[in-house]
Amino acid sequence: MKEINREVEAILRDMIEQRVRAMISGEATSNDLLGILLETNIRESQEGGIKNAMTTEDVIDECKLFYIAGHETTTVSLTWALILLSMHPEWQERAREEVLNLFGASKPDYDGLSQLKIVTMIMHEVMRLYPPVNFTERSAAAEVKLGEVTYPPGVHFLLPHIFLHRNPETWGPNANEFNPERFAQGVAKASVHGAFLPFSGGPRVCIGQNFAMLEAKLCLARILQHFRFELSPAYAHAPYTLVTMQPQFGAQIIIRRC
Ligand code: HEM
Repeated sequence: MKEINREVEAILRDMIEQRVRAMISGEATSNDLLGILLETNIRESQEGGIKNAMTTEDVIDECKLFYIAGHETTTVSLTWALILLSMHPEWQERAREEVLNLFGASKPDYDGLSQLKIVTMIMHEVMRLYPPVNFTERSAAAEVKLGEVTYPPGVHFLLPHIFLHRNPETWGPNANEFNPERFAQGVAKASVHGAFLPFSGGPRVCIGQNFAMLEAKLCLARILQHFRFELSPAYAHAPYTLVTMQPQFGAQIIIRRC
């Protein structure tokens, strides 16, 4: 683990230093997140001095956070979507029909993606049953009272999303079943008491949630436009949490061009 960490940090440090050198020598910045972050950082440090500046270590941590928080999560949610739509071909057909009605064979555009109702319902249901981030973890910085219990500083709290997402008291007796219909009236109507937390909630809610939904809908729409898919007999259903919730033995899916 330490070796991999050293390697990742060395790659990122190299990338950041190259970018900073290019910016200082007046070359055009790449219009990406790292470019914007470094540009802002250079400007702030010029205006406010060293106390306002992020260190290279801070920037490395931001890159790691964005990569891990932004890539793996969206990837596994799409993987589960393909698995669940393979298990429920009737929903796969409904989603394909919606996508073809809206876009035909053309590339989906931004406005069209926001009109995808069935696909959105499906993505919500996928993340309810298989939340890519399976729990929120917090530790008490100071003594805190929750309900009747007082906790000293340092206590760790773990909120398993899956318990909330599959609680029959909230979602009804069919809580464990794949039924995107429950999201037909939107998230707020489907999840009483805020029991739907794939992107967590409160002040540290996922800042990438709208982007992630857009990305997932775009990918799914492109796949549905061109392919039909079903589970291979080799697939073994084994959800497994390794930072994100993944199919432990992979997602073996047979894909056919439509
Ligand atoms: C399906 C995809 C995604 C899921 C399920 C997801 C889930 C989450 C969750 C549950 C948190 C809260 C973690 C905590 O407070 O302990 C979080 C935070 C965060 N997410 Fe996402 N995320 C997704 C996609 C993305 C994308 C695409 C980006 C960036 C482009 C992103 C960037 C972040 C960042 C930077 C934070 C930390 C926010 C903060 O602490 O203020 N996420 N995400």
